[in-house]
Amino acid sequence: MAKVLVTGATGNVGQEVVQALLAQHVPVKAAARNAEAVQRLAEKAAWQGDYEAVALDYANPESLVAALEDVDRVFLVTPTMGAVAEMVTAFLDAAKKSSVKHIVRLSGMRTIDEPSPTHAESERLIAESGIPYTFLRPNFFMQNFNTFYADGIKHRDSIALPAGEEPISFIDVRDIAEVAVAAFTQEGHANQIYTLTGGEAITHYDVAEAISAVLGRKITYINMPEDKFREVLIAAGRPEAMANGVIYLYAPVKQMLAAPVTQDVQRVTGKAPRTIHEYARDYAWAWARD
Ligand SMILES: NC(=O)c1ccc[n+]([C@@H]2O[C@H](COP(=O)([O-])OP(=O)(O)OC[C@H]3O[C@@H](n4cnc5c(N)ncnc54)[C@H](OP(=O)(O)O)[C@@H]3O)[C@@H](O)[C@H]2O)c1
Repeated sequence: MAKVLVTGATGNVGQEVVQALLAQHVPVKAAARNAEAVQRLAEKAAWQGDYEAVALDYANPESLVAALEDVDRVFLVTPTMGAVAEMVTAFLDAAKKSSVKHIVRLSGMRTIDEPSPTHAESERLIAESGIPYTFLRPNFFMQNFNTFYADGIKHRDSIALPAGEEPISFIDVRDIAEVAVAAFTQEGHANQIYTLTGGEAITHYDVAEAISAVLGRKITYINMPEDKFREVLIAAGRPEAMANGVIYLYAPVKQMLAAPVTQDVQRVTGKAPRTIHEYARDYAWAWARD
């Protein structure tokens, strides 16, 4: 049976896609730049079933050709920063010479009808390749709080961001993975676009409260003014470009663009999206003090 190639398999969404595909007995090639790192993750997460850890680097065309052997479907993830369109172009060059019949692309939401600017060109390139696609455009991930912001929660009991006070319909990446699996295993998802949100729009104050409730200690959201946020990051030795990147990321939130709630998760998976309370309960380990 041909396999699904899951790129970004060491990342937030990719690892959940691998897990969810294996649970459906779909054979998987799990790929990131370092195959040993994928294998270590496989052992830690106790992946069961027909999977293979492979090395894939968008900068190395030979690795793309090798990773695409025996593959008929692909979950395509690129990093948030960097030459994303070039990576997608390199991947499509290899995919066009392979047996790939469906690409499920992890894109991003700007509004209900638009991809995020980072992803717009990649979506266009994929659509023009002629390979059937499904674009998943998720809103902000809940899992940002157990990755990027875990340190502040764990050590300073705070989430300090220039994210404003407007609500966001955060999504749990496990729901994105379930939509991806449906797209791979059911009919009717070719050339479809899904805007993926949680079931409600909540503020960062609500997120802090949900995490406080599972930890039994108070976590505070600090709505940082943008200038102050930039100053603090620079004083901590971080590049100004990084501070500006975070500020840019939250600009649409302040225009209420991240607040809409869609029904796409429910429509595709038949299940309501996970809530912030389920998320906080399942990831409490990430913020526990040693
Ligand atoms: N965070 C959010 O709130 C959010 C919201 C909407 C959309 N998104 C989108 O989600 C995507 C990121 O997904 P994620 O959070 O699951 O990923 P992630 O945790 O940031 O991990 C990135 C993955 O890409 C792999 N990678 C990096 N450079 C690579 C290269 N040159 N060649 C091959 N693989 C490479 C990494 O593997 P190794 O480093 O192990 O090689 C890793 O598996 C981005 O496109 C972002 O725009 C994020």
